[in-house]
Amino acid sequence: MPETALRVRVKAVVWETDDIRLFDLQPTDGVALPPFTAGAHVDLCLPSGPVRSYSLVNAQSERHRYLIGVSRDRASRGGSAWLHDTLRCGDVLTVQPPRNNFSLDETAPFTVLVAGGIGVTPMMSMIKRLTALRASWHLHYGARTRRTAAFMEDLAAFSDRVDMRFEDEAGRLDVRAIVAGAPPGSHFYGCGPSGLMAAFATATADVPARRVHLEYFTAREPAATEGGFVVELARSGRAVAVQAGQSILDALKAAGIVVAHSCEQGVCGTCEVGIVSGIADHRDTILTESERAEGKTMMICCSGAKSAKLVLDL
Ligand code: FES
Repeated sequence: MPETALRVRVKAVVWETDDIRLFDLQPTDGVALPPFTAGAHVDLCLPSGPVRSYSLVNAQSERHRYLIGVSRDRASRGGSAWLHDTLRCGDVLTVQPPRNNFSLDETAPFTVLVAGGIGVTPMMSMIKRLTALRASWHLHYGARTRRTAAFMEDLAAFSDRVDMRFEDEAGRLDVRAIVAGAPPGSHFYGCGPSGLMAAFATATADVPARRVHLEYFTAREPAATEGGFVVELARSGRAVAVQAGQSILDALKAAGIVVAHSCEQGVCGTCEVGIVSGIADHRDTILTESERAEGKTMMICCSGAKSAKLVLDL
C-alpha cells in the first residue's frame, strides 16, 4: 500500500437513484483530508484488491470529507457492485489522495458542461466551484429517464443554468447544437458514456484544444498488447521483455516490480510514468495530442512501444 494512502470511514450512504449511491467518506483520525480541485477523483482500494476511481461530487472547499457518486455498473468487475451491496455506514476504507485529470480553467469567460448519466458527478463539484467564483456556466445533462437522473434536487436550484434531456421523452442531447450555440471563447467539458463522448469529440473538433476538456470512464481504444519490445528501468537498470498479450504493466508485475495502478484502462492516470527514451504507442484517454507528441510520460497499463526499447523513469 503506498505511504500516501488515507483511512476513511463511511459516514453516510445516500440513495440518489435506484442505481446511484452517494458515499460520504470522512477521515478516521479527524484530521483534514488532502485538498482537491473541482473535477478530481479519488482511487478507492477495495478490500479484495482492486482499485477503482470515482469523481468527487462535493465542493473543493470541504476538507472534512470526500463525497463520491457511484453508479452500479451492470458489468461490474467487483467495484461498484461491492460498494452498493456490501459497503455500509461505519466501514473503513483506504483511498489514495485526489488526482485531477479534468481540471477547470477558471479563467474561461463561459463554461459549458455536457454530461451523460453518471458523467454528471465531476460536474457537480465544478458547478459548486463555478458558483463560488460567480462564473458564467451552463450544464446540459442527459439521462435515460427522469428516474435514472441523479442530483435532481441539487440541480433544481440552478434551473436557469441547467438543461435536462431525458432520452425516453426527447431523445439524446444535441451536442453539435450545444457547441454551436455557446458564447464565443467558451470552454467545453464533456463526461459520459462512449456515445456521448464520441458526439462531443465530433462537435468540438474545430474548437481549439485548450478549450476542450474530456473525461472518459472507459477505454477509447484497445490496449497495446502486441509486445515484442524491451522496457528498461532507468533507476535500477533492470530490463524486462514485454511479450505478446502483455501490457507493460503486466510484464512488470510478472517480473515482481510494483507500480501504482488503478483502472488498467488508461482513464485514471495512476500508472503514469516518465519516458527517458524511446517512442511510446499511446492508448490512454488522458494525455492530449500535444502531450503525446512531447513523449515525456505514458500510461503503462494500456500504452506500448513503437521502438524496440523504452527506457522508463522507474
Ligand atoms: S491504471 Fe489507470 S491509467 Fe493506467
